Parts: sequence; structure tokens; C-alpha cells
Amino acid sequence: MIKKGIILSGGMGTRMSPLTKAVNKQLLPIYDKPLIFYPLSILMLAKIKDILIIVNKGQLNQYKKLLPDGKNLGMRINYLEQDKPRGLPDAFKIGKNFIKKDNVAMILGDNFFYGQSLSRMLLECVKLKNGAKIVLHKVVNPEKFGIATVKNKKILSLKEKPKVSKSNLAVTGLYFFDNKVIKYVKKLKPSYRNELEIVDLLNEYKKNNKLTAEFIGRGGAWLDTGSIEDFYKTSNFVSAIENQQGFKIACIEEIALNNNWINKKRIKDSIKFYGNCEYSTYLKKIIS
Ligand code: DAU
Repeated sequence: MIKKGIILSGGMGTRMSPLTKAVNKQLLPIYDKPLIFYPLSILMLAKIKDILIIVNKGQLNQYKKLLPDGKNLGMRINYLEQDKPRGLPDAFKIGKNFIKKDNVAMILGDNFFYGQSLSRMLLECVKLKNGAKIVLHKVVNPEKFGIATVKNKKILSLKEKPKVSKSNLAVTGLYFFDNKVIKYVKKLKPSYRNELEIVDLLNEYKKNNKLTAEFIGRGGAWLDTGSIEDFYKTSNFVSAIENQQGFKIACIEEIALNNNWINKKRIKDSIKFYGNCEYSTYLKKIIS
């Protein structure tokens, strides 16, 4: 079982400037909560309670105000800084002492997942003992993502942002790795854009026939919140679902309660922490 997870939550958010000049992108709102709540909730649904959040140098205080140490969620939240965006695999160099000898999941801080069978899929993925697993989802704009071709859940090829592609299966920002990731990441060389590439890391597993895939399927949604347009689309999606059905997506206290990681007393502490707001009203409802 994978019990550790990394949220890679740095990056300059250049495409969203000036919004991201003073505040990290992952702390900006997706409808009624900060973006970081959504990837965090995904790791929580996978029953991962030991988390490392990697943030930009200088932005640690912003994060700690919101998610101090995880105790309120019955989890452990650790932080480390990335001094500049060296690429996604850099997370495994930074997080080496957190991972130790274990297997590890990683989610990008700006990825949004939603769907009925999602929890079941996540619980399947964390069973990984060796190799690596990625999660694929169909997209209409393959030139914006890592793209895979696949046969019976085995990955045949991978390409980062191909200009032309026969496949429209995007590699989402959710990855599951065995402990070899620490060894493989050392081999990687920066690409033409001077970053370590996740596709190169995944190719190390593919070479050894150890890379498999899961699918989100038609009933699920995966949205990458890379641009301002995507932010508003995702916010509208969350607002439509929450207001129609009366429950919240990515209410981290609710998931912690359902996981039996905390009791109602802890939720009351969170209500105090957030203060008088709509989110607190929802928390009051779930413990009443
Ligand atoms: O969202 C899925 C896509 O994410 C995959 O399909 C691609 O294969 C993968 O390369 C990645 O592509 P992006 O172009 O979206 O990556 P981006 O550079 O925008 O970074 C994604 C997130 O990771 C973003 O929230 C910032 C954070 N990040 C990124 C880098 C390069 C860091 O915290 N540190 C970094 O060094």
C-alpha cells in the first residue's frame, strides 16, 4: 500500500500573472476553496495521510496559515521548498528524505479530478508494489499535455506536448511510483527547456516494462487549471455541482471524518479556525 504522497505546489504561475505575483497559484480560489484543497482531497481519498507539500521558496508562510501541520485532519503535512522550477521529477530529489524506502504517490497542485468511481480507482492505484502507474484521460487538445498510447493498460509510448498525435489520451498529473523513483531521477538530464521531464522519468519504467495505466473514464472529470480560462471553467463546474446537490467537492474535513481520522470535536476546531463563513456553515451541517 502506498502511504505517502507529494503535492507539487510550486511553479511561477506565469500564465496567470498578475494574479500570481504575490500569491501562489495553488492558493487562489476554485469557486469556494483554495485550489490546493482539491489535489489534497484526492490523496486523502486514496487514504494517504502522510503528505509532503513542495512549495516555492519564500511562500511557506502563506501555506502554513492555511494548512499548518495536518493535525486538524488527523494527518501529517510536511513542507519543503523548491528554489526554482526545475521540473516535475525534481520533487523526488527534494522529497528523498521524506520518501525514504517507501513507495510514493505524486499529484500536481493544479490538477482537479472528480467522478463517481474515482475513489475506487485511487484505492486500486495505491496497491502498487513495484513499477509505476499513471492515470489517463481523453482530451481534445493533446498538444497541451503529456500524451500516451496504450494497449491493455500497458504504456506503449509517451510524448510531452506532441505537436501532432494519433492518441488523445493525456497523462494526468497523478502518478504512483515504487521506490526506484529515487534511483531513476538521478539519471535524468534537463531537457531543451532546461527542466527535468516527467515523461523521461516515466520512460525509465517503460523501458523495464513496468509502466501501467488506469483510466478515469467518461463518467469522470479531469481539469488542468493551467490558465485563467481553466480556473473559471473549473470554478463553474464546482459551483454547478455543489449548488445543485448540496454537498461540497474537496471538503477536506469531511473526508477526514469519513476516513475516521478525526472526530466531531476536531471539526468544531476547524469551524473556529475558518470563522463565520459559508464553508463553516457546511461543516456545522455535517456534524449536526
Ligand atoms: O497537468 C498534467 C500535465 O502536467 C501532464 O500532462 C504533463 O505531462 C506534465 O508535464 C505537466 O504539464 P504542465 O505543462 O501542466 O506542467 P507545469 O509546468 O504547468 O506544472 C504543473 C504544476 O506543477 C504547476 O502547478 C506548477 C508545479 N510545478 C511545476 C514545475 C515545472 C512545480 O511546483 N515545480 C516545477 O518545477
